[in-house]
Amino acid sequence: MVLRIVINKEGKKFLVKDTSQDLHTQYGFLKKEDLKKKSGSKLVSNTGKEFSIFDARFIDLYRKIKRGAQIIPLKDIGLIISETGISKKSKVLDSGSGSGATTCFLANIVKEVISYEIREDFFKIVEKNIKNLGLKNVKLKHKDIYLGISEKNLDLIVLDLPEPWKVIEHAAISLKPGAFLVSYSPTIPQVMDFVDAIRKNEKFSYLKTSEIIEREWEVESRKVRPRSQAIGHSGFLSFVRKI
Ligand SMILES: C[S@@+](CC[C@H](N)C(=O)[O-])C[C@H]1O[C@@H](n2cnc3c(N)ncnc32)[C@H](O)[C@@H]1O
Repeated sequence: MVLRIVINKEGKKFLVKDTSQDLHTQYGFLKKEDLKKKSGSKLVSNTGKEFSIFDARFIDLYRKIKRGAQIIPLKDIGLIISETGISKKSKVLDSGSGSGATTCFLANIVKEVISYEIREDFFKIVEKNIKNLGLKNVKLKHKDIYLGISEKNLDLIVLDLPEPWKVIEHAAISLKPGAFLVSYSPTIPQVMDFVDAIRKNEKFSYLKTSEIIEREWEVESRKVRPRSQAIGHSGFLSFVRKI
């Protein structure tokens, strides 16, 4: 079944999972017959509030994924994609899978994603998220990445792990020359140990470590200012290249 989105002018949106029932919102309810109308149709709730309806896109469903472990936020995934230039031809490995947020977002734009997760409970969450997003190009493995990587000729490896330096030697074997290794860590001691190990390793060239600070603004007539609730710290991204 195609899931649908109803949205109002103020951007309040609701995911329609079941078109055999009316949709109840804080703006009144929308009749089930209306929820089947074609994309772009205007709908009006019983209280007179206007909505528009369309088929849910990947990003609408992605924002609803089930979470177990802390995910890499979109602002940081954006930098991984832009700095490495991965595309529909790329073969990528992501570990740990966690909630599958990074795995699923990358799978939507690359050829294939292999994802390693050590914890069974998180593995099951990722499995479910992959299924709900309809992704067919993910190979999810219940595996400890510190013990090795089976895949070869990878274009990118993304690490979101407590001890990413334990993967450096395995990554050297599995990445193509010129391919990227990106390590995402919430703390600076992890960055220090990772970069130190990379600098000592002849098979890698260290590029940079960055932090993305996103500041969202409130735009309400002439009241235009940064939102008072700033997004807190997420993590540091270290970029490395196989040479
Ligand atoms: C912070 S989460 C990753 C979140 C993920 N990047 C996302 O966006 O959803 C870290 C994950 O690494 C997993 N992990 C820790 N050590 C691991 C290992 N040696 N091999 C595979 N997974 C591991 C943990 O179980 C946890 O699920």
